Amino acid sequence: MKPLVFLLYGSKNIAEQVIKHGDYEMGAMEIRRFPDEEVYVRLLSDVRDRKVILIATLDRVDEKLLSLIFSAQMIKELGASEVGLIAPYLSYMRQDERFKEGEGITSKYFGKLLSSYFDWMITIDPHLHRRHSMDEIYTMPVAVLHAIEPITKWIKKNVPAPFMMGPDQESIQWVGEIAKNLDVPFVVAEKTRKGDREIETLIPRLDHYKNLTPVLVDDIISTGKTMLSTISQLKALGMKPPICIGVHAVFAEGAYDELCQSGAKVVTTNTIEHMSNQIDVSSVIVKYILSLREH
Ligand code: R5P
Repeated sequence: MKPLVFLLYGSKNIAEQVIKHGDYEMGAMEIRRFPDEEVYVRLLSDVRDRKVILIATLDRVDEKLLSLIFSAQMIKELGASEVGLIAPYLSYMRQDERFKEGEGITSKYFGKLLSSYFDWMITIDPHLHRRHSMDEIYTMPVAVLHAIEPITKWIKKNVPAPFMMGPDQESIQWVGEIAKNLDVPFVVAEKTRKGDREIETLIPRLDHYKNLTPVLVDDIISTGKTMLSTISQLKALGMKPPICIGVHAVFAEGAYDELCQSGAKVVTTNTIEHMSNQIDVSSVIVKYILSLREH
């Protein structure tokens, strides 16, 4: 029997591509709220003795969490042989340390919770900066995939003369690799975070690159302040208007408008559905699934 795929939250295109290339079958379920706003979940496909994959991108996860874990639990109780999760965006990765006394390491608590409901997970560019491996956070097997290839293709097709700019040291993993693939220069800014919405950025002089278009790449755009701070430095140096690429279009309230008003072009991948999505990451997931089969 073919594995069953349920799309709970996220891109229909990702689900369709995974089903088509993986030769899976689409499952149906009903998720709605009772009048008192508690969540109601019902499976409409028979999962007995089948492998099941849930696709759920996990931005704004507080609203999605119960339906997600109820679904996983029900699928197991109703006889599925395994249940895996494809989470193109994985939340609760940034609080990975006790930065201040009295705080919790919520990435670990979240990892423990998901690991107790799912047998495995696939995700794209999780925020692994201070932690080096998902094994430090998750007890289930987690495959970490990267959006570098589709982002590189997009830049190649759409930006005639780019240079890559990382808005902070951690972004070197994307901009360094993309710059190498495109054979263009890259620069990384120095960022100091002073609060949730307060960022200070230092960038070197960029006189040699005045004729090139700065292409900023970061994993998450949330408040947009990291990008905005870099954009204002680029402006002060008289550089061309930049293109800001975010893997995950989290966009806290007002962030997208503010970024657009800054004169930057904003482009994201479809790990989270948003009007700025121009880069499709489904090929990354499909490639991984097919590679598993080959091995
Ligand atoms: C931080 O380490 C991340 O890579 C991003 O730079 C950060 O999450 C962006 O957040 P914001 O858009 O709120 O500045």
